[in-house]
Amino acid sequence: MLAKRARPFFSHAVQSRLPLCGLGFLLLGCAQKDPERGPKLGFAKDIKGIMTHSCIECHGIEAEESDLDLRTLEAIISGGESGPAIVPGHPEESLLLEMIHDEHMPPEGELLTKDKIELLHKWIAAGAKP
Ligand code: HEC
Repeated sequence: MLAKRARPFFSHAVQSRLPLCGLGFLLLGCAQKDPERGPKLGFAKDIKGIMTHSCIECHGIEAEESDLDLRTLEAIISGGESGPAIVPGHPEESLLLEMIHDEHMPPEGELLTKDKIELLHKWIAAGAKP
């Protein structure tokens, strides 16, 4: 008897809540697709590793060639003898990228892969965030 009475109540509750659930998932789905919330490139997360692997031996650890330290974002922006190594938002004005594109840097060892160069380009274009 009790079970029989409880049943209609249960299904009514489920039916009335389902659309709300659906709406919740929809909103969540939309929020995740919002490009503003997409993964952002950052120095610590995406760039420091490239510098450590290919550059800081000569620009920070064993030497500071051209007075350029590539270990921190602040040092990269303040730059070396020729001025700022990067101009946030302007990859085309960034000496660091020019040197890499021209295959002038690194002067010895492996050159950077296309993917890494593209990542650097995107990071600078997006404002060179920390
Ligand atoms: C083997 C040592 C060595 C490595 C590794 C190296 N560099 Fe250099 N870098 C130099 C030397 C030497 C100079 C100065 C002479 C010249 O421009 O060739 C220089 C100069 C520069 C300059 C010009 C700085 C100024 O203000 O004039 C930039 C920018 C630069 N390097 C970026 C990089 C980047 C980015 C990397 C990593 C992808 C890198 N370098 C790796 C030795 C190195």
